[in-house]
Amino acid sequence: MAINSGLNPWASEQLCIRHLVREDLKALEWNDQYTQFRRLYKDIFHSTRDGRAIMWVVELQGIGVIGQLFVQLSSTRHDLADGLNRAYIYAFRIQPPYRGFGVGSKLLHFSENDLLKRRFRWITLNVGKDNSAARRFYERNGYRISGEEEGEWSFIDNFGLRQVVHEPSWRMEKDILQVGIVNN
Ligand SMILES: CC(C)(COP(=O)(O)OP(=O)(O)OC[C@H]1O[C@@H](n2cnc3c(N)ncnc32)[C@H](O)[C@@H]1OP(=O)(O)O)[C@@H](O)C(=O)NCCC(=O)NCCS
Repeated sequence: MAINSGLNPWASEQLCIRHLVREDLKALEWNDQYTQFRRLYKDIFHSTRDGRAIMWVVELQGIGVIGQLFVQLSSTRHDLADGLNRAYIYAFRIQPPYRGFGVGSKLLHFSENDLLKRRFRWITLNVGKDNSAARRFYERNGYRISGEEEGEWSFIDNFGLRQVVHEPSWRMEKDILQVGIVNN
């Protein structure tokens, strides 16, 4: 899908949102900043195959992948994603030089539209309590705080070691049927 925007310092047809393919996995490491998530992202990629997850990327022609957003469609945590009505958005980021040009908003709206087509109604996400800029971004996009999370989770890093993350977060959610979605 080509994106239209009068603000971007690139031609609209240079930017596209698409499903991640295996060859993109390396690009998600952002020159080693996210190498620790290599195994985790590979596992998520496998779960896209049986329809439990979706991995969206934004590609800028001539540059490559500049952003990502993952969606968990079903989970053992039904308050986050139940495979039917409720889906969970995470690992949403745009590379720093490309922030503030509307790319993140377009990627979010694109994934919301996709979820609406799949007949999902509620979108949930967790945002770090120390990430007030992202919280404001979500509020502007119709998300409301619905709870809080200890934010304790773990993953196996690229060396095979378990890493524990503690990130106290706000739970936010949006009723995409009620609130509506901005067209891209
Ligand atoms: C949040 C994020 C995905 C938004 O993408 P984006 O392309 O910058 O978004 P847009 O250009 O559509 O909107 C920009 C708005 O996002 C807000 N924002 C949040 N975090 C930001 C950041 N680190 N840098 C720039 N803008 C940021 C800005 O306040 C801006 O609001 P404004 O237009 O009122 O100034 C992106 O800024 C990002 O990757 N941030 C770091 C990772 C992160 O916090 N992800 C969310 C985790 S829950």
